[in-house]
Amino acid sequence: MFKLSTILILSFAFFGCSTKDLSESELRKAELIEGKVREQYEAYGKKYMIATQGGATTRAAKFALDKGGNIFDAATAASFAISVERPHSTGIGGGGFMLIHNNGKTEALDFREMAPRMANKNMFLENGKQVKERSLTGPLASGTPGLVAGVVEAHRSRGKLPLELVMQPAIELAEKGFKVYPALAKAIDTKKDKLCKFKASKEIFLKEDCKPLEAGDLLVQKDLANTLRLVAKKGRDGFYKGFVAKSIAKNQKELGGLITTKDLAGYKVKNRKPVVGTYKGHKVVSMPPPSSGGTHIIQILNILEGYDLKAMGAQSAKAVHLTSTAMQIAFADRAKYMGDSDFVTVPVEKLTSKKYAAGLRKLIDNNKAVESSKFPVPFHRVPEPDHTTHFTIMDGEGNIVSSTQTINGWFGSAVTVPGTGIVMNNEMDDFASHVGGVNLFGAVGGANNLVSPRKRPLSSMSPTIVFDKQDKPLMALGTPSGTRILTCVMQTTLNVLEHEMNLWDAVSATRYHHQWSPEEIRVGPPYLDPKVESELKAMGHKINHKSLGCKIQAIKVEKDGVLHGVSDPREEGMSYGI
Ligand code: DON
Repeated sequence: MFKLSTILILSFAFFGCSTKDLSESELRKAELIEGKVREQYEAYGKKYMIATQGGATTRAAKFALDKGGNIFDAATAASFAISVERPHSTGIGGGGFMLIHNNGKTEALDFREMAPRMANKNMFLENGKQVKERSLTGPLASGTPGLVAGVVEAHRSRGKLPLELVMQPAIELAEKGFKVYPALAKAIDTKKDKLCKFKASKEIFLKEDCKPLEAGDLLVQKDLANTLRLVAKKGRDGFYKGFVAKSIAKNQKELGGLITTKDLAGYKVKNRKPVVGTYKGHKVVSMPPPSSGGTHIIQILNILEGYDLKAMGAQSAKAVHLTSTAMQIAFADRAKYMGDSDFVTVPVEKLTSKKYAAGLRKLIDNNKAVESSKFPVPFHRVPEPDHTTHFTIMDGEGNIVSSTQTINGWFGSAVTVPGTGIVMNNEMDDFASHVGGVNLFGAVGGANNLVSPRKRPLSSMSPTIVFDKQDKPLMALGTPSGTRILTCVMQTTLNVLEHEMNLWDAVSATRYHHQWSPEEIRVGPPYLDPKVESELKAMGHKINHKSLGCKIQAIKVEKDGVLHGVSDPREEGMSYGI
């Protein structure tokens, strides 16, 4: 069990100046396994388990459960708390997905941002050329936020406690503030020039002369606390109507954006049928379009099912080669087919079929890298950000919430709506600006992902649930990090199902990623054995040592129904259970 004394010590560490800077470069396998810090990230329980990317957020979920709430109350508390605790990653100006397993049934809640009614497919082009900054920073970068509508809907349909009660920890955290932790300080510092351009962003996240708040400084978000109070009192209407909606629309108009009060009032949460596949007898359930995540996780697993990866060894050159090549092929399909299935036809059934995977397997040479140039789409290398957030909560009865939420890049569009504390997303960048256009993560978009009014941009977010051979929940997981989300979730699943690693090892193991374009295997840290990397190079692979940015939050049901929570030790997550 997670000891309460540990929680208290960690609470102090989290809010005090002594927070450990767990930058990825400092992490080495030995530390991950033996280090004192492991306690923060791993927990066991029987009644419930919470794995989130922040201490205050895990405590908010615990608060809801302690008050007699269920996991949906806890997920609501966590969603609003993480919006406050990780304002660079997610927030009520963003959107997300939530995979819910309740009373034996799995549903996929889609509260992804929607393009405003006035959006059009040329809005990020000038003279036919992509104007990259327009979809990244400022008013046009934002889609109509869906987060409040989605979370409030999950709570309305399944929660037990009053919304006002479960939102209390988030409101207090915003009102009283908390000490900036190193990862947040880094995000503020990186984005300070952009934040400086928008008055309300400047007032909240910067000091005099646009100097960034630093680790240890107090971050208070009073306007956000007031907005959260309105939501707590009025539910969805507290955001999509009245003062908040008018403030967002006014700010958009002043800055030259497109979102109106009509867009906000017309925001729709979608309850979608999840995508379902199997891997060696285990059912895998994940997010359907407008996410590409679930479809490609299943596609990659289907391709890999034809090999004995376990016999090769999890991180042998051969297993890494086959796994990366399966990823590479799936990403070519992503560019070709993926988009919002409310607007375009996405052949999910074909992409997730065993027959299609068998055909793709034939493209793979066991000893040689496949050239991406077989697939005729250009690519450009672009700078990449790091954030979004994921949490997973499970109870002893096998009910699950697995939710990934985001404003896309660090601090989204950098615009904070004056008087509301809402940092607006830059999710419009996940659309293809034109056929063959690339997003922030270097992912190439095709015709199916062009901008259209009220359409949702393609996502990689992949809240996922894996079932055991008796069809009982075995594991639930997810992560942030753009296109790497789906390959990190897939690899962690493979580590557990195929390589039979325990959950801690499965989450902390070296991860790698291939997205067809760029044509390389991105690795680490921790990195692969240098000998393995040499073998991969000899097969024709290019290796790029660069953090994947994933922060897996996973819960697994172990023997005798014990819930095992692991928050990726690569950052400030915290698992807690009783
Ligand atoms: O929906 C998506 O796939 C992206 N907007 C997620 C962004 C993300 O994970 C950023 N973190 N690195």
